Amino acid sequence: MTKFIAFEGIDGSGKSTQLSLLAKSLKKKGLKFLCTREPGGSHISEQIRKILVRRQKENILPITELLLIYAARYEHLEKKIIPNLKKNIVLCDRYFYSTYCYQILTSDIAFSTLKYLHRRITNNLMPDLTLVIDVDFKIGIKRSLKKNKKETRFEFKDNLFHKKVSTGFRNLRKIKKVKIFDGTKSKNDVHKNIVDFLNKKKILNKQIPYHYEF
Ligand code: ADP
Ligand code: TYD
Repeated sequence: MTKFIAFEGIDGSGKSTQLSLLAKSLKKKGLKFLCTREPGGSHISEQIRKILVRRQKENILPITELLLIYAARYEHLEKKIIPNLKKNIVLCDRYFYSTYCYQILTSDIAFSTLKYLHRRITNNLMPDLTLVIDVDFKIGIKRSLKKNKKETRFEFKDNLFHKKVSTGFRNLRKIKKVKIFDGTKSKNDVHKNIVDFLNKKKILNKQIPYHYEF
């Protein structure tokens, strides 16, 4: 049983927190998994990440940004995700739908360009399940800026940008293999909702326990 599970949502929605709580549930059950993230997750991809997430004087053109994301994704898939999927569950903080919401919904780049890149570069590899943590973008930005002082290039975009991204994530509810969770609940409650969903749908074939943190 190997599964590719992606966590999505706006900055500060609580994705990393939920990924880490779920990883602890899997560990309690003795399941083997890899925790990783995008942009990043492999040596070269982490270097590309720095260009993407650090605030700098000069702007990055939308196509440049999209190609950097796909350069990082290719490295990450080839060197980490695909080899791990042969025997492990892969929990990935952000993937395809982040690119759709952050790069496509906020620019003039056509969705067909993203679809073309995704097909040519990843052979259309998609997660078995995408968990979206939903919070209002103002809450997310506040939480995010408190946490990270260096990686703020996206956080400093304007409200219209964040509104487009958060609406994009909400609209993913219509897609099969995507499940949205209310991220305004406490960390433990969101975790419980995720574990209940995975168990009810038998996503991991085994029933996994909760891992609460106090
Ligand atoms: P993301 O990975 O989506 O940017 P994080 O999991 O890093 O979000 O959480 C951002 C900040 O918000 C962290 O300080 C974290 O402790 C806090 N946080 C996460 N989930 C919740 C929650 N459900 N309620 C309140 N604060 C939260
Ligand atoms: P992340 O580390 O998840 O940030 P946070 O913890 O604040 O949620 O992601 C860093 C930034 O990368 C985030 O602001 C969104 C951006 N990003 C894109 O714009 N497109 C993408 O395809 C991905 C994977 C990330």
